[in-house]
Amino acid sequence: MTAKVIDFDVKGDDRGSLIALERGYNVPFDVKRVYYIFDTKEGVRRGAHAHRNLKQLAVCVKGSCRFLLDDGEQKRRVALDSPDKGLYLEGLIWREMYDFSPDCVLMVLADAFYDEKDYIREYDLFLQTVKKA
Ligand code: TYD
Repeated sequence: MTAKVIDFDVKGDDRGSLIALERGYNVPFDVKRVYYIFDTKEGVRRGAHAHRNLKQLAVCVKGSCRFLLDDGEQKRRVALDSPDKGLYLEGLIWREMYDFSPDCVLMVLADAFYDEKDYIREYDLFLQTVKKA
């Protein structure tokens, strides 16, 4: 699995800041879909799934949240708390998102259209799938 934090260049001037996400520069795939999660209620956990075959880049464009990442052997926690970094996820990774700040807007870029068949939503099945991979 690949899970890495990508630091984005910030184009700043006296008017404020701008970040550009661009294929081949800071986005390592062709983007087919963008979705964003916002107005998340207090205490909610989201995610709790893995993807069979999907590349994603998650950016907290506002506020903050945390990711729990699990490759079936090791768990890792990543905080996204700034619009100038993104979390790139590829391969079999169980992910859960939690500790959303009330203002959090979590934007996710993906390399494929939404496909429920690509999801593994049961943890036991995830572990079995990791073993077979
Ligand atoms: P869900 O997978 O439960 O969100 P998460 O796992 O990130 O907490 O998705 C919530 C609903 O939105 C579910 O009905 C599927 C739908 N959805 C789409 O239609 N398109 C998408 O790109 C995504 C990510 C979800």
